[in-house]
Amino acid sequence: MGIDPSMDTEAFVSALNEDLQTEFQSIIQYVNHTATLTGPEFMGVIDELKRHLGQELLHAQILAEQVSFLGGNPSTSVRPVVQADNSRGALVADLKLESDQLDRYRERVQQANDLGLADVAEALRPLLEQTQEHVRDLQTALGD
Ligand SMILES: [Fe+2]
Ligand SMILES: [Fe+2]
Repeated sequence: MGIDPSMDTEAFVSALNEDLQTEFQSIIQYVNHTATLTGPEFMGVIDELKRHLGQELLHAQILAEQVSFLGGNPSTSVRPVVQADNSRGALVADLKLESDQLDRYRERVQQANDLGLADVAEALRPLLEQTQEHVRDLQTALGD
């Protein structure tokens, strides 16, 4: 989704709900991947992914709170989880999802500010910073 200058609060709330669906996807993906990653090169990564997992729960809670605060119904849908063939494929899928979320949160903070919702932009800041960390962790794990 590109930045729409005419975005109203309703469209903003529905974008936040899509963000929430991607966080539910993250939670399921990390639960699955921390349990199934194999190979000595990835053993150190599992603890990192477990740390991500705890933060994804916090991200989902923040998004649900902001949706509700803005008068919407927090989504309970999950964006479809990617099934990977092997450990590297799983980490590639995780990196793709985190990169996608980083783009989404950059856009969302900008939109919140454009709508005069400085408090909402502030509430989203941990998602922005932690998602960038998750991207960096996965880039390092993959040797990119
Ligand atoms: Fe997240
Ligand atoms: Fe993340």
